[in-house]
Amino acid sequence: MDYLKKADPEISDLVLKEKKRQQETLMMIPSENYASLAVMEALGSCLTNKYAEGYPAKRYYQGQEFIDQIERLTIARAKRAFMVPFANVQALSGAAANFAVYTAVLKPGDKVLSLKMDCGGHLTHGSPASVVSKIYQVVNYGVDDNARIDYQKLAKLAEKEKPKLMIAGYSAYPFLVDWQKFAEISRQSGALLMADIAHLAGLIVSGNYPSPVNFVDIVTTTTHKTLRGPRGAIIMVTQKGLAKDEKLADKINRSVFPGIQGGPHINAIAAIGVALAETEGEGFADYGRTVINNARVLSKEMTNHGLKLVGGGTESHLMLLDLVELGITGNLVAEALEKAGIVVNKNLIPNDPATPFYPSGIRLGTPAVTSRGMGEPEMKQVAGWISLIVSQLRKAKIGLGFNHDDEKIFRNRQEIIREVESIKKISYRVVDICWKFPVKKEY
Ligand SMILES: Cc1ncc(COP(=O)(O)O)c(C=O)c1O
Repeated sequence: MDYLKKADPEISDLVLKEKKRQQETLMMIPSENYASLAVMEALGSCLTNKYAEGYPAKRYYQGQEFIDQIERLTIARAKRAFMVPFANVQALSGAAANFAVYTAVLKPGDKVLSLKMDCGGHLTHGSPASVVSKIYQVVNYGVDDNARIDYQKLAKLAEKEKPKLMIAGYSAYPFLVDWQKFAEISRQSGALLMADIAHLAGLIVSGNYPSPVNFVDIVTTTTHKTLRGPRGAIIMVTQKGLAKDEKLADKINRSVFPGIQGGPHINAIAAIGVALAETEGEGFADYGRTVINNARVLSKEMTNHGLKLVGGGTESHLMLLDLVELGITGNLVAEALEKAGIVVNKNLIPNDPATPFYPSGIRLGTPAVTSRGMGEPEMKQVAGWISLIVSQLRKAKIGLGFNHDDEKIFRNRQEIIREVESIKKISYRVVDICWKFPVKKEY
């Protein structure tokens, strides 16, 4: 980054610090990953200079000879990777992709049936805080006592509510989704069915998680999570979707542009193309398998250490720690783990007695650490560190006489964290392990 260093030392310095942070900590937020240098070169290329409103061969500005080829290539790779007849690669993010689908298939006031946020649903699936819930009528389904989707209840709810759109695919749901059951339920209630595979895309493309493509009408995904691409999104229509509405693909294209966006980020589209090509390499199937195996080992080891996991474990790349019985917040645990170099996020858990800002769970996953080449021994090590820190936090909190509300004050959380001596020692060992598995430049 020689030019950046010369032109803007302040930003350059911060970027280099962030690079070091990413190298020397364990990235265990399940929605994060390391993109290859090839992906980042495409993202940082001259393509950022080009305006390309419209679609290949139907642009508003001249100079599109190579831009059209790039977009067509990325679309072709997306269609091949996910085995779908249509893909739009222009949505700027997962949120925009989902909103584009809603505006393509719904009218204001139409009903959407989606998973409740504390059960793993995403903000953009219609949380009260999202504009989606102000435009559409959102009804939520939930999970059972084992934190699994209750398909019987879902079927009854769909029958009663008759939604126009049903959404499956989530942000914090550790288990397999039964796409076929969703297909049956949506057929009976006459709803369109959308799968949001933002988290699962890389696992699906690598053949390690069931694909929704034969069961749903529309698929949306982000490209920067398990797919290891740049920040971006893909919207796909399946054969089933096209059979229901032959204009569905056109409606989605029009909804993205000119509906909710202007010029596409061609640099990101090229980088998505690069990431998709990387999934065709031999190593990607193995990558997906190892992500899931690492998650299984991590969750089993944490359980062996006495920690409680939502639903008892995982069948994917992520898991949720349930802290309710320990009486500590996700904030305290996330901040303490960060001090040790283990970077996770606080998260709501099903029927969370607390609030979204002070939730009772921790969400963590294995996509990024697996990209660095870590495996079972490292997962066992990390599970031990997490359990030690959690149990010592709890003891420190009791020792200091804090109650749950005290802990919501940042200063008090820091006081509890200071009492936990193991954090410093673990932080050194985290740096050691991180340098043993440096961030890869290529996959
Ligand atoms: C299931 C799901 N859908 C959509 C999104 C939104 O993606 P973005 O943050 O790129 O807007 C996310 C992001 O975490 C997600 O998990």
